[in-house]
Amino acid sequence: MNPYPELTLSESATTIDLNESKGLKLKHINLMTELNEAENLNITKAMQWIKRNRKSNPLSITFLMKLHKQMFGDVWKWAGVFRVSDKNIGVPWPEIPSKIKNLIDDTHFWIQNKSFDWDEIGVRFHHRLVSIHPFVNGNGRHARLLCDILLERHNIKIFSWGGVTARSDETRSFYIKALQAADQKNYDLLISFVRS
Ligand SMILES: Nc1ncnc2c1ncn2[C@@H]1O[C@H](COP(=O)(O)OP(=O)(O)O)[C@@H](O)[C@H]1O
Ligand SMILES: [Mg+2]
Repeated sequence: MNPYPELTLSESATTIDLNESKGLKLKHINLMTELNEAENLNITKAMQWIKRNRKSNPLSITFLMKLHKQMFGDVWKWAGVFRVSDKNIGVPWPEIPSKIKNLIDDTHFWIQNKSFDWDEIGVRFHHRLVSIHPFVNGNGRHARLLCDILLERHNIKIFSWGGVTARSDETRSFYIKALQAADQKNYDLLISFVRS
């Protein structure tokens, strides 16, 4: 089972957006349920790849891009590549590489200087990564998994991300509220969410 489900999926969307479907590698897929299944399988495979690559540095642009490719590359053509158009969430696309570099540098600094405790470092890293929104899609799942890889490499217990009820509407709206609070530099809600 894939422990990194989409937390903000709209249940009413039963067919795939035509615009988005252009990048779809699997042409037999028509329904959101089929897409979810293909993505879940791809992410489960990516978890095996992570196990084989325990030595690589998760705080690098190459690893960050490779991880997205591993998670979504069987399904989407744009997997592992930064977006080249703007979305309603995220920085203007030309700024993505420099914003990612700044985030990686800052995270190295926080770790080295113990600027925050580990849960807050993880949460700040996750929130800033989804706020940059580097990819066309899959940003939430990618940023949760990358955050957990970072924690694991430092022998910190990985987050639960809302726990077993991860797909419920309540969990989803709490997660979004917590991200919005983090936009205002208040990380407390998100810190409690990731360990709930
Ligand atoms: N205001 C917001 N509303 C919805 N999602 C947000 C918001 N701010 C940040 N996000 C992040 O964006 C993610 C959704 O982006 P998306 O690229 O579709 O990722 P995924 O396909 O993995 O869900 C959410 O999981 C969340 O991490
Ligand atoms: Mg999505």
